[in-house]
Amino acid sequence: MHGIIPAAVLAIAGLAQAEWVKFNNSDLFPDVTYQGFQSDNPVTIAGSRNLQDSPPKYPSPWGEGHGEWADAYEKARAFVHQLTLEEKVNLTTGTGWKMDRCVGQTGSIPRLGFHSLCLQDSPNGVRLTDFVSVFPSGVNLAATWSRELVHSIGHAMGEEHRGKGVDMQLGPVVGPMGRAPEAGRSWEGFGPDPYLSGILASEAIQGMHSAGVMSSLKHAIAYEQGHFRLPYESVEMGWNITAPYSSNLDDVTMHELYLWPFADAIRAGAASVMCSYNQVNNSNGCQNSYVLNHLIKNELGFQGFVVSDWYGTWSGVSSILAGLDMSMPGVPEMQDQYSGRSFWGANLTVAVLNGSVPTWRLDDAVTRIVAAWYFVGRDEANETLSFSTWTKDTYGPAHYAIGDGLIHLNEHRDVRGNHSNLVREAGAKSTVLLKNTNGALPLTGKEKLTATFGEDAGPNIRGPNSCKQHACDEGTLAVGWGSGAPDFASLVTPDTAIQNEVSKFGGAYESILTNYASEQIDTLARRADVALVFVNSDSGEGQMVANNYGDRNNLTLWKGGDELVKRVSSSCPNTIVVVHSTGPVLLEEIKQNPNVTALLWAGLPGDQTGNAITDVLYGRVNPGAKLPFTVGVARKDWGTDVLYAPNNGILAPQANFQEGIFTDYRGFDKHNITPTYEFGYGLSYTSFSYSNLRVTKRPVREYTATQGYTSAAPNLSRSDVSSNPANHLFPSNFSMVPLYIYPWLNTTDLASASGDRYYGSNEFIPPGAQDSSPQPLAAAGGAPGGNPALWDIVYTVEATITNEGEVEGDEIPQLYISLGGPYDAPLLLRGFDRLSIQPGRSSTFQADIRRKDIMNWDTVAQDWYVSGYQKKVYVGSSSRNLPLSATLA
Ligand code: BGC
Repeated sequence: MHGIIPAAVLAIAGLAQAEWVKFNNSDLFPDVTYQGFQSDNPVTIAGSRNLQDSPPKYPSPWGEGHGEWADAYEKARAFVHQLTLEEKVNLTTGTGWKMDRCVGQTGSIPRLGFHSLCLQDSPNGVRLTDFVSVFPSGVNLAATWSRELVHSIGHAMGEEHRGKGVDMQLGPVVGPMGRAPEAGRSWEGFGPDPYLSGILASEAIQGMHSAGVMSSLKHAIAYEQGHFRLPYESVEMGWNITAPYSSNLDDVTMHELYLWPFADAIRAGAASVMCSYNQVNNSNGCQNSYVLNHLIKNELGFQGFVVSDWYGTWSGVSSILAGLDMSMPGVPEMQDQYSGRSFWGANLTVAVLNGSVPTWRLDDAVTRIVAAWYFVGRDEANETLSFSTWTKDTYGPAHYAIGDGLIHLNEHRDVRGNHSNLVREAGAKSTVLLKNTNGALPLTGKEKLTATFGEDAGPNIRGPNSCKQHACDEGTLAVGWGSGAPDFASLVTPDTAIQNEVSKFGGAYESILTNYASEQIDTLARRADVALVFVNSDSGEGQMVANNYGDRNNLTLWKGGDELVKRVSSSCPNTIVVVHSTGPVLLEEIKQNPNVTALLWAGLPGDQTGNAITDVLYGRVNPGAKLPFTVGVARKDWGTDVLYAPNNGILAPQANFQEGIFTDYRGFDKHNITPTYEFGYGLSYTSFSYSNLRVTKRPVREYTATQGYTSAAPNLSRSDVSSNPANHLFPSNFSMVPLYIYPWLNTTDLASASGDRYYGSNEFIPPGAQDSSPQPLAAAGGAPGGNPALWDIVYTVEATITNEGEVEGDEIPQLYISLGGPYDAPLLLRGFDRLSIQPGRSSTFQADIRRKDIMNWDTVAQDWYVSGYQKKVYVGSSSRNLPLSATLA
């Protein structure tokens, strides 16, 4: 096998080898650093530099069917054993852009009745189809801090995807986390805290799986901005770059921050992981062997499959050897999307035939895919695919990109069930009460004239789905833009819901749904008993909105929102402000404004937004949510920012994560910066007191590094698979759909079958990549999520929480730990719960501290360890209100 020239697909990439090319040219460009924090940890300083490289790690670990995966693996292996080479390739490769009906689809195996897998966005509801719910976005789910609610929503979203005939929901999101508050897509995930993010992503995944669809945990990893994520997209925006930006980060920051939520979610059974567009230490996310082979598959023992982000595959051989298992949508970057070419597909067939890709690696990729399918019970799902991503018309072309035929594309299945209740509940339970002077809220229902102001309270007058990919900020903001935005089957605006409410109690109601009618706004505000001002700040993915290219250009309110608040509040001394935003916005002035009597952050609440905010305003739901991020006084206070201009000529822009683990509250705490509202902050219509902290040490086994070796790569191949290219040609009389990606060859000459003009000229296969012998296990590995002993409960902490007020309410007690070392964050969130407590009653908050929760990453041992520094535990109602504390023995 090694004797055969293994060139084919590797060379097509052109860009394929960043990983093993070492740059030495430090004069390439000046050392560009943010005007931000620089961690003082030497490991971070050394590891977050321009042109940082990523070590090669081969071979790609084969799935072994650990733990809960055993049964699925047994079935998957039996299935894979029956497959021909082409059938295997078919399951790994997308069929092309807009060639089938979902945002991504694999080939199928008709002989065995295995249908093409439908992969569909998004993390908050089925995207680009009708009659679905738009659930609250990830950032709102984070603000609920409710495991149960997130689990239920995961299940409900799974039901809707399944109902439409989707096999895999492309969510949840744990990256971006929100390193910089401006980052455009952070709202899709659970915010900048890795612990909260990991726990909630796990719940979402288990919820989705319980409904029988696969999850896709995305994006791995350090995808912390939209700018420069794809060269072609950037070129369209006017930047001349040839490679995606590189997130340069060190080993400690990787483990203690960005990889952390992946560990929890993989432990919870994530079916797939989507790799990211950005490079990680100058190696593309989807062919980064360190990230995929080493971190995800070896250290975190991931048993599912890695799917590329769309057009995030940069090579054939290099990517599959580096751990990619499925390439989507099958075609290369966007400018090539209608080329009918693929790094995978037939090129993967070539690569196996010429020995570049060992059969065991392809078998492993397919086994992982089929195992994930069994793992969530797809073998028992019988809902057929019922919609098309590309049109809502009932009839349309079978292959949308080429416009052929006319088939029944959309059945218009209504899959919402009674989910509007859940959307509404989660909308209300994710609304954070930031300010409430003298009981301005809840409203009493006795207000004589209620006045609502702001475009953000009303509809988009062109319709709720009128902007492509929701890339516009028109009307109320209930979801951001891009692949995280499903279409609204209905959208209850705040204006409608509040008006309905007021008419129930017979008050008067007027609204002005533009931010710019100054005179009318002044007049109405003067007359109103209460003025409700709705303002927003939007962001998203891929498209430009008001000059914001996905990432926000600033943290102020959009469409003159700050001016609107000033205007209304200068005429009405009882002004209540509701903020819809994708992340933090600057609120200090509004906080200080005495005429603003109440302030709420409502995030992106989904399609019941109006009902949800009305429930809170009128006290049917007592707000209990807490901020899942910090709201700083000034933009610079975060000490991190998006890289807005290329800094490496036409080569990959370099984003240096020099602040290390000190993002969001960890940075504010370390640098002693007072925020407007801290991480974990949120008020209620009642108040809670904290007492009686109890810390119990639990008996545990010693932590020992995982040792030993894997088995050898299993041989799952049929004995009759021919290595003769003549047996892998298109079947005779096959009627080919133009541009469709097929696994067959069009000639027996592998060089021309590959379509690769460099075929044979580049013989580099990374050392060890083809080795199928038993491989050493990572010390921190050994099971999904990592070394099982990391999850042992080492302490249980309890505290008494008492509702001191007159009404029932939810409190979210939070547990923080200080690890005590010189380079540690002052506080790390390590426990939380959401408790409903009756007035005058107490509840016990109980949190289990896992061993990993008190550990640091040792870059030399490549394992977790408990440092010798004194550790303390704190419990309270926010990251800066921690009345209870104890030393951990
Ligand atoms: C996004 C992914 C999404 C995919 C498919 C990409 O541009 O980054 O999050 O799942 O498109 O729509």
